[in-house]
Amino acid sequence: MEVRVQNIRKEFGRYPALEDVSLDIRSGELVALLGPSGSGKTTLLRLIAGLESPTEGTIFFGDEDASKKSVQQRNIGFVFQHYALFRHMTVLDNVSFGLNVRPANRRPQAAEIRRRALDLLELVQLSGLEKRYPAQLSGGQRQRVALARAMAVEPNVLLLDEPFGALDAQVRKELRKWLREIHDRTGHTTVFVTHDQEEALELADRVVVMSKGAIEQVGTPDDIYDHPVSPFVYGFIGQSNCLDVTLSRGEIWFEDRPIGLRAASEPDGPATLYFRPHDIELVDGCGCLAGLVTAGRRVAGTRHLEVSLGRTQPPVEIELPPERASSTDHSRVAFRPTRWKLYRGAGDVARGSVQAQSSGIELAPTGT
Ligand SMILES: Nc1ncnc2c1ncn2[C@@H]1O[C@H](COP(=O)(O)OP(=O)(O)OP(=O)(O)O)[C@@H](O)[C@H]1O
Ligand SMILES: [Mg+2]
Repeated sequence: MEVRVQNIRKEFGRYPALEDVSLDIRSGELVALLGPSGSGKTTLLRLIAGLESPTEGTIFFGDEDASKKSVQQRNIGFVFQHYALFRHMTVLDNVSFGLNVRPANRRPQAAEIRRRALDLLELVQLSGLEKRYPAQLSGGQRQRVALARAMAVEPNVLLLDEPFGALDAQVRKELRKWLREIHDRTGHTTVFVTHDQEEALELADRVVVMSKGAIEQVGTPDDIYDHPVSPFVYGFIGQSNCLDVTLSRGEIWFEDRPIGLRAASEPDGPATLYFRPHDIELVDGCGCLAGLVTAGRRVAGTRHLEVSLGRTQPPVEIELPPERASSTDHSRVAFRPTRWKLYRGAGDVARGSVQAQSSGIELAPTGT
């Protein structure tokens, strides 16, 4: 079912947890709400569920104003970060719960409830465990039971609040892939909360980036990653470097030199240059960024180098194939961003990219 959130404001006391939030969630879509702690993700989810009511604004389920509907009438499936299974009930009874408590006129026959619950357990790959109690399951298995339970009522919308938050990284990764597969098979409209950007980008059809009770950007994972609309989104999605630079006659200067990047139509003045650690090329000579390597570490297939570019700015991080970079401290390295973005007070003003060329330049220790 389609969900439309319109101009929602939510205050707790006098503190606004959400301010003027509007969002259209399409039927069958998997949307991730992504943002730092306290940005309002759970609050938005609880408002959609009807567990909170908005201070201002309206939420529509299809064409109907949901504020006129109770939590039950909204028919929501909800999964929380911390397992909320009924400890005294078996797995099967947990999954059947939402159907068992329906009023008699809407409750399926007992055999039908059992059949549906067993089907769902098969879907979440827990067949055979239906007689166990939650205490006899691993964390990942419990969350899968919680998901099966949420889906049992054939919800209009499935709301998942960091369902894998308490699990270790490997299990999270597996469950993430699995959740996407289940979503593709069942087609439930799903809103998924996470503060893990990798999880959001990998899983969602669209990502909603939130900060301080407001939506910063809504877009496909590619949009968000490649065209972040604000420094906040740029910094929050993936790793990034930012440098204070100056524009002068269409050229970008760092400290006392131009660095070989142009922003032709921009007026002179200060700006902030953003680039990602892997969007760089090594260059030979001048007209670039250059500094000394202050630390290096190998991360899986690449080497990450911390480079000090000047006294006044924090070091930047660049990423190179290991064979292109020794990890020797105090090597000198010269490079230029191949993809970058400039932001000035009011937002982004220019972005640039050049075809990355293989310059064939290796990092060489300076010998000092
Ligand atoms: N019941 C409440 N009473 C008072 N303030 C609240 C209540 N619930 C949330 N808040 C406040 O609203 C803001 C948003 O909280 P919310 O739980 O939505 O954040 P979140 O994005 O889910 O964070 P996290 O990633 O830590 O779960 C926070 O500043 C929080 O302290
Ligand atoms: Mg939360």
